[in-house]
Amino acid sequence: MRVAIVGCGGAGSEHAFGYGQVEGLRIVGCCDVVLEKAQQLASKFGAEAFTDFKEMIEQVRPDIVSVCTFEKDHAVVAITALNAGAHVLCEKMLAASLDEAKTMVRVAREKNKLLATQFNYRHIPSVRWLKGLLSSGALGELLLVNLMVHSYCHHHGVDLLRFLFGEVISVQAAMRGGRNEVPYRGWEGISEDLLYIPPNSFCAIVHFESGLLGVTTSSFRHRLEDLMLELHLVTTKGRLSLRRMRYENICGDLDTNIDLLGAPSFPEPLPFKATFALSVQSFVAVVRGEPAEIATGEDGMRAMQIEHALLMAARTNQLITLPPMA
Ligand SMILES: NC(=O)c1ccc[n+]([C@@H]2O[C@H](COP(=O)([O-])OP(=O)(O)OC[C@H]3O[C@@H](n4cnc5c(N)ncnc54)[C@H](O)[C@@H]3O)[C@@H](O)[C@H]2O)c1
Repeated sequence: MRVAIVGCGGAGSEHAFGYGQVEGLRIVGCCDVVLEKAQQLASKFGAEAFTDFKEMIEQVRPDIVSVCTFEKDHAVVAITALNAGAHVLCEKMLAASLDEAKTMVRVAREKNKLLATQFNYRHIPSVRWLKGLLSSGALGELLLVNLMVHSYCHHHGVDLLRFLFGEVISVQAAMRGGRNEVPYRGWEGISEDLLYIPPNSFCAIVHFESGLLGVTTSSFRHRLEDLMLELHLVTTKGRLSLRRMRYENICGDLDTNIDLLGAPSFPEPLPFKATFALSVQSFVAVVRGEPAEIATGEDGMRAMQIEHALLMAARTNQLITLPPMA
């Protein structure tokens, strides 16, 4: 299979590294508006460098395209690739607006191609360990979930809430400050109706379909090297925390008073970067028809619907109900 990468910065390089480890795959094209960045990445994989993604897709006819530009260009690149018959792995946030996300999901369905959202946090070994324990019943019944997250990781946190605890049906929220507090380089073109990267102070109550209640707090003022995410659960058997999930060890530190004798052991420490390759490789497996865990385009769009609801809840001080899953 032939792979092309659009956007050869931090995320694009991690995707390429992930594909580079898969047998039977070849990276054939690397595109960046900055030619040197495209050339630099292309030279590592024997690929051709481009500055125009349309030209690249036309010339190299990839089976897979990874979309690793900033959000404002996700839709145009993904839709071009899907229309050209490629499967697409798109970085989060899936699109810059809900309308764009809907179009991406529709085109993927029409073309019968896989559109996946790069929610690599689903592949954190401690997250998968926790999901296994939750479904085995080893933790008892869940009573309360508390997610504390750095603003840059908030969007992943929203996806993880769904991944681990089921569908979100409504939210309440409060916020101090706005986008001007967050020096994200990719704000251009992102709808004002999406929260995406919360400012210094954001908190929310999340209502799950199961009746479970969750609380999330997020701040841009956490230090990223110190804390990306932290998850605390209260269950009928006690409490369990994944503390300080962070760059150098994204699994975090387990802290629990629940007896886990007989349960699988807690995973070894893992650097955050390693989650990209795990996620890219799962995407390739699903493209090949093998069973693997991925976040779909629909999952990416749902996370955006929740971001929209969270912002509306904070703006109006009302409980906001999510639309049903499309
Ligand atoms: N999943 C994760 O954990 C994670 C982590 C970091 C970034 N991201 C996401 O990855 C995306 C890129 O972020 P980044 O940190 O890699 O940024 P970056 O600035 O390092 O890379 C983006 C690259 O895209 C190029 N680019 C911009 N417009 C382009 C276009 N139209 N065609 C081709 N190239 C273009 C830029 O020149 C730049 O090299 C964003 O959507 C971001 O949210 C995800």
